Amino acid sequence: MASRATIERRTDSVPVQKDPDILAAAARLAGEDLCSVGDLSSGEVRAILKLGHEVKRNPREYRHALDAKQMVLMFEKASLRTRLSFETGMNTMGGNAIFVDQTSSPLGEREAIADVARNVERWVDIIVLRTYAHDTITEMAANSRVPVVNALSDFEHPCQALADFMTLEEHFGTVAGLNFTYVGDGNNVCHSLMLAGAQLGANVTIATPRGYSPDIEIVTKAREMAQANGCEVNLTQDPQAAASGADAVYTDVCVSMGFEHESTKRAPIFRPFQVNEALMQKAAGNAVFMHCLPARRNAEVTDSVLDGPQSIVFDQAENRMHAQKALLLLLLGGLANVPAFSEQ
Ligand code: CP
Ligand code: NVA
Repeated sequence: MASRATIERRTDSVPVQKDPDILAAAARLAGEDLCSVGDLSSGEVRAILKLGHEVKRNPREYRHALDAKQMVLMFEKASLRTRLSFETGMNTMGGNAIFVDQTSSPLGEREAIADVARNVERWVDIIVLRTYAHDTITEMAANSRVPVVNALSDFEHPCQALADFMTLEEHFGTVAGLNFTYVGDGNNVCHSLMLAGAQLGANVTIATPRGYSPDIEIVTKAREMAQANGCEVNLTQDPQAAASGADAVYTDVCVSMGFEHESTKRAPIFRPFQVNEALMQKAAGNAVFMHCLPARRNAEVTDSVLDGPQSIVFDQAENRMHAQKALLLLLLGGLANVPAFSEQ
């Protein structure tokens, strides 16, 4: 059975209410958008994760933090985890979530995105978007006076990466110096993981087939961050070399939503990049396996790895809610309503 990664090995000596990263993030992020992990400083990424751990440990402390706040989720693509983790997260902090299914009516089709923003901001406190085009998210953010959060675009999936590194912190205590390997498509999830890993001091290795490497601008940005944070970002087309000695091996589907028409072409190209027991053997003895889910079983990952003892995929899924609660608290100024923070 997959181990439940709730190992409390964090040794932070500063109480969370006085943590300088959290206090600085609370001051800077209130009212801001989260379109990309690149919008966040290294300290802000650390703050969201620290607050995520805290909210997970003490959920009752935060149950009125967002009383009466309204969150709208406007999704052009299917979702299980993102929708439910945002809705449950908001509901358990006193706020309310409204879901608008945009799968048959992409944003910008019926009405200009700027006009949607200028309407929606009159009713809600935060807008959470799942889109095809990343520009839909940045355009909504540019035209909305309330925060806009990227809940997955074709280019990034920042909330996923925050939850994933929170999960790694739970499991390993820290991610600084950790060897994090991603094998598969250089896609939205890969982009956000690269940026988050680089901001947290993890050594990030990305193995993709030729022609499927991550976007060069993201690579450049992640390398700049890595240099500032004392770690490395490396690209390869050799999955065995990438997995060698890795502490975490991560994969995602090779056909993301919106790319279904490429399924037949992609299947043989990605076959050598499958995460299976042989590939996991190359990793460190205590390595973990990660996947954002949903998984295509026995395509990008075998059942034996996905269901095996190294898999922490359902901890990742759980932590979507905790990490996003931390994010909502910071973007909506919710810590002001939490006695431990407001009475210090
Ligand atoms: N990982 C993730 O974003 O899952 P959903 O597509 O189900 O939201
Ligand atoms: N890369 C995948 C992630 C799904 C959570 C997709 O975009 O479909």
